[in-house]
Amino acid sequence: MKLNILFSCIFGIGPASFLARADWVDEQKKHAETNLDANNKPSWSQAEYHTPNDLFLEFSEIRNSRAFIDKTFFLHEWLTHRPKHWYVTAPPGFGKTALAKMAVQFLNASAEIVDGVEKFHDRHKTAVYELFQGTNIFEMKEFFDQHFQNYAVIYVDLAPLSNTTEAMYLKQDDFNTQDFHIYFRLVIKKMMSYYPSLLFHQSLTDIERERFREYLENGMETAVRPTLFWNCVSFLKEMLKKTLKKEVIVIIDSYDALCKPSMVGDLSKLQRPYIGSYIINFSKLLLQDRLATVLYLGTIDTRELMLLKPSDVGMQTALSITHTPFSTDERLAKYFGLSKQEVDDILSKHSMEEHLGVVNDLLNGHAVTGSSLTLFNTKYVLSYIEHRNASTIAFTMPSTTEILHHYRKIFSVELISNVVTPCVYKIKLR
Ligand SMILES: *[C@@H]1O[C@H](CO)[C@@H](O)[C@H](O)[C@H]1NC(C)=O
Ligand SMILES: *[C@@H]1O[C@H](CO)[C@@H](O)[C@H](O)[C@H]1NC(C)=O
Ligand SMILES: *[C@@H]1O[C@H](CO)[C@@H](O)[C@H](O)[C@H]1NC(C)=O
Ligand SMILES: *[C@@H]1O[C@H](CO)[C@@H](O)[C@H](O)[C@H]1NC(C)=O
Repeated sequence: MKLNILFSCIFGIGPASFLARADWVDEQKKHAETNLDANNKPSWSQAEYHTPNDLFLEFSEIRNSRAFIDKTFFLHEWLTHRPKHWYVTAPPGFGKTALAKMAVQFLNASAEIVDGVEKFHDRHKTAVYELFQGTNIFEMKEFFDQHFQNYAVIYVDLAPLSNTTEAMYLKQDDFNTQDFHIYFRLVIKKMMSYYPSLLFHQSLTDIERERFREYLENGMETAVRPTLFWNCVSFLKEMLKKTLKKEVIVIIDSYDALCKPSMVGDLSKLQRPYIGSYIINFSKLLLQDRLATVLYLGTIDTRELMLLKPSDVGMQTALSITHTPFSTDERLAKYFGLSKQEVDDILSKHSMEEHLGVVNDLLNGHAVTGSSLTLFNTKYVLSYIEHRNASTIAFTMPSTTEILHHYRKIFSVELISNVVTPCVYKIKLR
């Protein structure tokens, strides 16, 4: 019984979120129906397209769980003090994706298309408003008023690209053969799928509507060319500006997804320069709009991601993304991972105060340069709580074997292995 309570709280499947979820689904159904009635002209109907509500559900689960730690001030830091095109890196498990989902919920305007025209919901009456009630950012009245549900947000998760095994330049490419393009289309399709109702907006031209429908159905246009792949985010941005008439914010998660195949993939099937220039071209099209706000999140920083060709190194290029590693900036660091105080708070909520010492020894955190702050890996702490009576060995082993497994090719390079292996094992011995 106790365990049940623990689990339902960690995963937030509490009664409150069930309610919120049910209400929300009902709402969505109602909207879909109204739209159908109003738009029976097109041969395809809105019901054919499924709007994912995963971002809302996941944030509401976190918000309603005992593991919720309020990082909402991140929004203020980002939107008032940071560059327009900003890449933040932090290790896996430090809550980047949770932060991204929170940001989408906070910023994204709640709207629907009725009779071909956009109609905004009263933002003080949305399910999302309720989720933010009582959070830190809710108290910053002016900021809240200015930014809450006041944008059209594009969410792009590049994670599927990390599974790429084939990416070569082919002269007669059909964009259907290599898994690189297949994953890219998956990413694009998902990104578009948050906005199927735009199809029903009266201001779209027939050509735009057709292009948009192709993206929704296939993740690409029929007359596909590389430029159309790179341009997909900009295309959606234009459609959103045209229909919702809101400023567009783009959030790109796992921006470094292609680094993994580039590092450990089979290089007879993967051309690194091809992958590198693909991602450069993709980002450059976004950067052309200097005023657009784009947040990039990832773990690894490479020249390619900063849009530098090897030949450009040392040159000041006009287009650039500003990179901040979370661990070099105390003001930023506190939004990632968990501080000792936050770990203590979560443990207390689970009546596990006496475990702080063990957690501290096991997961002795990530130091922040030039500060006394030490941060814990959120994923590991939550996993510890979940497996509170599992043996400590079972708990610490996966992270080391995981690293060795993922990067085994790197470890096979003697030079790297000589440097890295002692570090890994020193940590283990401690
Ligand atoms: C933003 O809100 C609209 C509805 O108002 C929704 O259709 C869309 O999926 C949301 N966008 C994201 C990225 O969740
Ligand atoms: C990569 O592929 C594996 C195995 O098919 C799958 O379990 C995993 O979810 C994929 N990763 C991503 C980020 O899509
Ligand atoms: C990226 O763009 C440049 C210039 O437009 C082009 O020469 C290059 O082939 C493109 N990269 C890929 C992977 O298509
Ligand atoms: C693990 O902890 C839970 C809750 O404290 C307890 O009910 C359960 O019996 C424990 N399991 C083992 C194998 O010790």
